[in-house]
Amino acid sequence: MKPTLKLAPSMLSADFAKLAEEFKAIKDGGAHYLHIDVMDGIFVPSISFGMPVIKSIRKCTDMFFDVHLMIVDPVRYIEEFAKSGADLITFHLEATEDPQAVIDEIRRNNCKVGISIKPKTPFADVAPYMDKVDMLLVMTVEPGFGGQKMMPETLDKVREARAFVTEKGLTTDIQVDGGVKFDNINLPLEAGANVFVAGSAVFGPDTLGETKRFCEYLAKEQAE
Ligand code: DX5
Ligand code: ZN
Repeated sequence: MKPTLKLAPSMLSADFAKLAEEFKAIKDGGAHYLHIDVMDGIFVPSISFGMPVIKSIRKCTDMFFDVHLMIVDPVRYIEEFAKSGADLITFHLEATEDPQAVIDEIRRNNCKVGISIKPKTPFADVAPYMDKVDMLLVMTVEPGFGGQKMMPETLDKVREARAFVTEKGLTTDIQVDGGVKFDNINLPLEAGANVFVAGSAVFGPDTLGETKRFCEYLAKEQAE
């Protein structure tokens, strides 16, 4: 069966002075997830926001919260992120010594589990966890900032992951994040990704229109 194609706009590129309006626009436009990038200034050079912000925005939207943790030793904060309103928590394989413990902690807190790899990390490193998580996030840029250019070489890993999932009969989603634009989303799609993060390509002067454009494209591809 064809995996469900989903758009996950990244809040990092939203206008923080009017988040409620931005969330309404992406929801009305048909987006499936709200992608929430948490950065600690250690795992990645930049710092974004944390639990209090997530807790607060949980009150103004019922969208599915896809929380992408770019933080070291994520196991320490899983419970707090779950309590703040996360629906899915993705952590980085490179950020922990014990990925299984992080997976167990996310499950214990009744959230869906995602695991992510940076551009230089091979798929083989994450393969043993593919049947234990709900989603694999293949970073298509070096994590840390929005607005970067997609690294096409990362798409080979998407192909490898899709082949693995198909061969093993798994239902694990494959997400891509970084540099996804309307004019290149076909590349990760053809490589086998089914969840697409897009930040700077979605949020802007016409957030509703851009969201619709992506979602209509994905709906058309889904139907084919
Ligand atoms: C990068 C973040 C991304 C980022 C994507 O570290 O994980 O989610 O916001 O932004 P764009 O789509 O602008 O590359
Ligand atoms: Zn992200």
